[in-house]
Amino acid sequence: MLDAAETQTETLLEVNNIEVIYNHVILVLKGVSLKVPKGGITALLGGNGAGKTTTLKAISNLLASERGEVTKGNIQYRGERVQDLNPSDLVKKGVIQVMEGRHCFEHLTVEENLLTGAYTRGSSKSEIDADLEMVYNYFPRLKERRRSQAGYTSGGEQQMVAIGRALMSRPETILLDEPSMGLAPQLVEQIFDIVKSLNESEGYTFLLAEQNTNVALRFAHYGYILENGRVVMDGPAKELRENPDVKEFYLGMSDEGRKSFRDVRSYRRRKRWLS
Ligand SMILES: Nc1ncnc2c1ncn2[C@@H]1O[C@H](COP(=O)(O)OP(=O)(O)OP(=O)(O)O)[C@@H](O)[C@H]1O
Ligand SMILES: [Mg+2]
Repeated sequence: MLDAAETQTETLLEVNNIEVIYNHVILVLKGVSLKVPKGGITALLGGNGAGKTTTLKAISNLLASERGEVTKGNIQYRGERVQDLNPSDLVKKGVIQVMEGRHCFEHLTVEENLLTGAYTRGSSKSEIDADLEMVYNYFPRLKERRRSQAGYTSGGEQQMVAIGRALMSRPETILLDEPSMGLAPQLVEQIFDIVKSLNESEGYTFLLAEQNTNVALRFAHYGYILENGRVVMDGPAKELRENPDVKEFYLGMSDEGRKSFRDVRSYRRRKRWLS
């Protein structure tokens, strides 16, 4: 059994109270803080427009191309401030983002797409071959389709290509944005199973942005719930799954029935006040 000291894992990524503004005026993140421990799967949850993608892009320094800027707070990786680095420097430090919408190069084959992921790290030919084998081992479907043009593969296969390409950069931490988007439930399950085994067998650390709270909380160890640019709740995934507010507002309710945590809280406060 592990004693208390051994279960204290190292924090790889730390976001401290960041504010993000787009186009100099649109305030989107209003003080977001989170920690990503080494070897864990951390979920960043929340509905449409909550700020999940913005948080991931702030971490991987992809905001500049969107006219966005971190105006307050700081972001550290292994204790080092990383928010002034460019995205490729961050990849060299071991942090890579898999973008929302499974971007791949449509005119390249599946294997060529995977190979594009390898160049940032300057690996040798034999290392690249070994990495490719590792990716095919986790995604046998990609091996079958290695010579197909990526643009003609299915949505699920493209998501696999996007994750596989990230793995080719030999990352330590993978920022995965909305892997379930647009995929049938069975495929979502498959993708998450693979994420879980990559985490358990290869030790990759994940920060996972998801609207699909139900699936994400089954696979993650810890979760943060974002609403309107703020973290409104966080905790171990198991506790969040059993939390009555999370159950009511994020698990098993239709989208149009989803209310805001803050509404519930103030409503309860009012109710207590009246009674
Ligand atoms: N480039 C941009 N310029 C201006 N506003 C933006 C930009 N990108 C996002 N926003 C706004 O920031 C807010 C947060 O968006 P973000 O994409 O981070 O949310 P999200 O949680 O990822 O949502 P979804 O689940 O729909 O992907 C939204 O109100 C969105 O309209
Ligand atoms: Mg998003």
